[in-house]
Amino acid sequence: MTKLAVLCSGRGSDLQSIIDAINSGELQAEISVVITDKPNVQALTRAENAGIKNICINRKLFDNRADFETEILKNLVGVDLVVLAGFMRILSPDFVKKFSGRLMNIHPSLLPAFPGAHAHRDVLNYGVKISGCTVHFVDEGTDSGPIILQAAVKVLDDDTEETLSARILEQEHVIYPRAIKLFVEGRLKIVGRHVKILED
Ligand code: GRF
Repeated sequence: MTKLAVLCSGRGSDLQSIIDAINSGELQAEISVVITDKPNVQALTRAENAGIKNICINRKLFDNRADFETEILKNLVGVDLVVLAGFMRILSPDFVKKFSGRLMNIHPSLLPAFPGAHAHRDVLNYGVKISGCTVHFVDEGTDSGPIILQAAVKVLDDDTEETLSARILEQEHVIYPRAIKLFVEGRLKIVGRHVKILED
């Protein structure tokens, strides 16, 4: 069984979509551990409720990123795929290299448009008519790795960050479990910047 580690920072609704896909039998994988960089966040409760091992590795208690990441790495032994689900920290190039091709992220825009921490705000300020979400492998840049799946969502004239993010989140909850399933089935082949999805 493919072993996943899911790293989160807050609410954990993307984590929940993965838990639900596993519980429904749609995704044949197990979550070995959920790790958060903040204490008392909903993602920890969601993991606990699902009977999944969960650990807070509080970034604030570490003097530097290297020590913080060493602690994370201790908990990733035997993990096949590391899934970033609303994890609001940039991982070091060393960390990314260790998990090259085995580290995924979801970002709430149609990359390469609107990378960074304020995608919805940036989308609304720019005035684009379509946004969406992107699942990608993580490389050493920010939100720049090879794209696995995307879903498009219309931006409405009266959208706020809250309404837009809610509609995009619905799509995130569809494409993230789907992308992980493709990985689990060995159907993702990275060729340079491209991710080929192999036939069933
Ligand atoms: C999602 O919008 C995801 O795209 C972004 O952070 C948000 C996490 O939401 N990276 P949640 O914590 O999974 O509910």
